[in-house]
Amino acid sequence: KPHFLTASDLDPYVTPQLLDLGDAFVDFNRQSSKALDLLHGRTVVNLFFENSTRTSSSFEIAAKRLGADVVTMPVAASSVKKGETLIDTAVTLNAMKPDILVIRHSASGAAELLSQKVGCAVVNAGDGRHEHPTQAFLDLLSMRRAFGDVTSLTVAICGDITHSRVARSNVALLQMMGARVRLIGPPTLVPGDADRWGCEVFHDMREGLKGCDVVMMLRLQLERMAGALVPSTREYFRFWGLDREKLAWANPGARVMHPGPMNRGVEIDSDVADDLDVSLIQDQVEMGVAARMAVLASLSARWGDAR
Ligand code: CP
Repeated sequence: KPHFLTASDLDPYVTPQLLDLGDAFVDFNRQSSKALDLLHGRTVVNLFFENSTRTSSSFEIAAKRLGADVVTMPVAASSVKKGETLIDTAVTLNAMKPDILVIRHSASGAAELLSQKVGCAVVNAGDGRHEHPTQAFLDLLSMRRAFGDVTSLTVAICGDITHSRVARSNVALLQMMGARVRLIGPPTLVPGDADRWGCEVFHDMREGLKGCDVVMMLRLQLERMAGALVPSTREYFRFWGLDREKLAWANPGARVMHPGPMNRGVEIDSDVADDLDVSLIQDQVEMGVAARMAVLASLSARWGDAR
C-alpha cells in the first residue's frame, strides 16, 4: 500500500499534479456543498493521540467530501486509556479493514512504525517533532495560490524550529520545489545541525527577514520542552514575535503564515495575524481541507481495487 509519511514521499514531478488537484478541490468546495464519490465505499479512520483542531477536523471533512465513511476515534474514551499500546490499538482497528488510517502521535516515527504493522494506507498527521507532511503540502498550496510560482520564493521559518515537525516537513518540500528557506530563531530553539538542512540560519530576526517573501511563524511548542529553560513570553515577543515593525524588514508584499494554533502576543501580533492583506493564515485553514482531499484521493487512486 502507498502511504504518506514524510514530505519525501512526494517528488518534484508528482507535487505539481497534486497541487493542481488541490486547486480543483478548492474550486469545488467553494461552489458546492455536495460530496463527491471518489472514496465511495472506502473507510477512513482518524486516530489522534495528540490534540488537534485543524488537522483532525479537516481530514474528517475532506474524507466526507470525497464520499468516504469516516470514523474519528475518540482516543480519550478508547481502550488506550486502559493501557492498550499504539500498536495493539492500530492492529485492532486494522482487523476492521479500514482503507486509510490517519494518525497523529507524540512519538517521532509512530506513523512509520504503524505502516509496517497494518494492511491499509497510513497518513502521518504529525509525529512528535519529526514530520507533518500534509501541513507542508497545504502550506505549499497556499503559497502557490498567493504567488503563482514557488520556485523563486525566499521563505523564512521563524521561532521554535527545534521542536517543530511543521518546519522539518516545510524545509524538505520547499527545497524540493526549488524555494530558498531560511531558519530564524534563538540559538536555543534552532537545532545544532540546522546548517546541514541546506538553509541559511539567522539568530537576528530583522536581519533574517531582509529579502523574504514569506514569513512563516511557529509557536513555542511547550509540550515538547519538559525540563527545558522556557523563555518568558514578554521577552520572547520582544525578540522573536512578528509585529509590523519586524515585518517591514521583509520584501514589500511579503505574506505571513502560521500553521496554528497561534499564541497571540507571543510569536505573533494580532495586528499582523488578522490583516487579510498580509496574512494567509485563514487561507491555510481553507487549503487544509482541499489539500487533504487531494492526498486522500491520490492514495485511493494508487490502490486501484487491490485490497
Ligand atoms: N496545524 C496543526 O496541525 O493544527 P492542529 O494541531 O490544530 O491540528
